[in-house]
Amino acid sequence: MSDDIKKGLLGIVVDETEVSKVMPEINSLTYRGYAAQDLCEYCRFEEVAYLILNKDLPNTIQLRQFEKEERNNRELTKNLYEIIKHMPKKSHPMDVARTAVSVMGLEDKETSNSTPEANMRKALRIFAKTPTALSAFYRIRSGKKIIKPKKNLTFAENFFYMCFGKVPQKEIVKAFDVSLILYAEHSFNVSTFTARTITSSLSDIHGAITGAIASLKGPLHGGANEEVMHMMNRIKKPENALKWINNALKNKEVVMGFGHRVYKSGDSRVPTMRNYFGKVAKLKKDKKFEKIYDIVEKVMIKKKNIYPNVDYPTGPMYHLMGFDTDFFTPIFVISRITGWSAHIMEQHAANKLIRPLAKYKGSKHRKVMELNYR
Ligand code: COA
Repeated sequence: MSDDIKKGLLGIVVDETEVSKVMPEINSLTYRGYAAQDLCEYCRFEEVAYLILNKDLPNTIQLRQFEKEERNNRELTKNLYEIIKHMPKKSHPMDVARTAVSVMGLEDKETSNSTPEANMRKALRIFAKTPTALSAFYRIRSGKKIIKPKKNLTFAENFFYMCFGKVPQKEIVKAFDVSLILYAEHSFNVSTFTARTITSSLSDIHGAITGAIASLKGPLHGGANEEVMHMMNRIKKPENALKWINNALKNKEVVMGFGHRVYKSGDSRVPTMRNYFGKVAKLKKDKKFEKIYDIVEKVMIKKKNIYPNVDYPTGPMYHLMGFDTDFFTPIFVISRITGWSAHIMEQHAANKLIRPLAKYKGSKHRKVMELNYR
């Protein structure tokens, strides 16, 4: 056995997957064989969610059935609404999502049944309920009345409706839908690997998704979309952007929304997301963040050869859509539940306990002596 340490599992292939393929050499990403950008163009998020979970795009009947199931499962128990009402108003919504999914595990009658069929049913329930839990908290913390889910709205429309009480124009909904499609799945990223690791001990799907949410919260992973917005708010206006980024680089700061473990010459998801961010900026008649975006990007590529990742355009786009900054990563959650669930089911289907080794570098062997404070 080699003593070589691969910190961060850099470059290590740990398993096989059929869910998605990240191809950094050609800046491409496919879900179950379909190019993500084509899915953005031709599909709604629900169709992509079905594809990720069920391995194929749905036909009309399958889609209708899937949407019916999702819509019928949106409602939370009275108990969960009560728990959310009693959460500290200052809680980070990622912690609310994590706790809500954990409570769903307490309430679900199939929690300890990990057959493929039960896992698929539970995945769908978590997928349908998490947006409701998050939007309930969104309303409660600002003293507003909870808005219950509506069955005649799509997944994206319903989320807007539950947060704001209305559905925005269709171009805004489409841009949001595209972001959900692009956030849905990305192979063995840290939160997915967390979910697979938890699953590898044959633990349950609620636990695996709860752990994955905690992992996604970190600023080096999903939390980056919030950090991008904080950065843009610090920059304030386009005229400050050049000075700000030059300073940041001089001080060797990590610039959020840039860089990626796998993509080194551009994130395949960015061109599509950048395009929709531009459309939203145009509709909202607010080009300030777009200008800041372009200036910072140009300098990062020129001086560091580091490209933006998908969190760079989504941050300011969600801001323009009206979401509070700390809700950006939770939006990532409601989409990624699909990818996590597919990986959890894949792990269950061909499981091997994940248990790497560590090279010990602590104290030499010591003997326990009589302790003198006794
Ligand atoms: N800003 C400034 N420098 C960056 C950078 C960034 N966003 N991302 C990477 N670098 C630099 C590192 O400082 C390092 O430089 P060095 O070799 O001089 O020390 C080099 O590029 C390699 O980066 P490293 O952190 O080793 O790459 P990684 O594969 O371990 O990390 C990330 C990938 C995503 C963790 C990293 O790029 C990052 O922290 N990005 C910001 C957070 C973010 O946007 N996360 C979302 C990812 S989808």
